[in-house]
Amino acid sequence: MPLETRREFTRQALQSLTALALIEGLAGHRLFGADVQPIVDDWFKELDAITHEIHDHKVKDVEFQKSLEGLYARVDLPALLKSLDFDRMAAGVNYPAKGAKSLPVDFKQIAGLPTKLVFGRQIFAMAKGRSVVPHGHDNMATGFLVLKGTCRGRHYDRVEDLDDHYIIRPTIDRAFKPGEYSSISDHKDNVHWFTATSDHAFIFNIHVNNTDPGNPNIPGRVYIDPMGEELAGGLIKAEKVNHERVNQLYG
Ligand SMILES: [Fe+2]
Repeated sequence: MPLETRREFTRQALQSLTALALIEGLAGHRLFGADVQPIVDDWFKELDAITHEIHDHKVKDVEFQKSLEGLYARVDLPALLKSLDFDRMAAGVNYPAKGAKSLPVDFKQIAGLPTKLVFGRQIFAMAKGRSVVPHGHDNMATGFLVLKGTCRGRHYDRVEDLDDHYIIRPTIDRAFKPGEYSSISDHKDNVHWFTATSDHAFIFNIHVNNTDPGNPNIPGRVYIDPMGEELAGGLIKAEKVNHERVNQLYG
């Protein structure tokens, strides 16, 4: 083969190889999207379905807790983090000196979700030793899923409401790592308190209001000091406090 012809042959071969690499790169990109995104889309569609069930009072709040925990148990955590654009979001957090920062959750990348959702959502971010402060809930069901880092998570049943106090019973007190979860309703594990035990911790949260037709209270948080007087039977007399006080004590 003459020299010029050989050079032209080599040039064309290199061009073809470059084109092939580009095509493979694109295919790889598409493949990744096809593999991961539908899993997350289906997960969010199921979240949408179960939150409608409790919102429409087709199931009891404790049944919703089981459904939500079942869904959290099946989460593809790397795929969820990707769909939440977690790394970019986590890099920009301005951690508060006390308590946890609530970050908005963007579902723009989730296909097929209706625009009107019946659940609220956020991500809590906190530095080591800081907490989602102890609080209970009225007429609300909610669940935590640890996204990154580790936490000490505590829950209490709210046994009785008195004028200035709640009577509570400790139900959960353990370490939570990424992918682990817990849930809350008027009837089970109503109070929670999560403290970061790693440099930073991130917790995904969804909540549904008006989940208990038998509760006349407006849905919301109630703040509580769970380190109160110990009563018989493992119960605790926990003072009702405001957010400023609980943040000062435990934030
Ligand atoms: Fe909560």
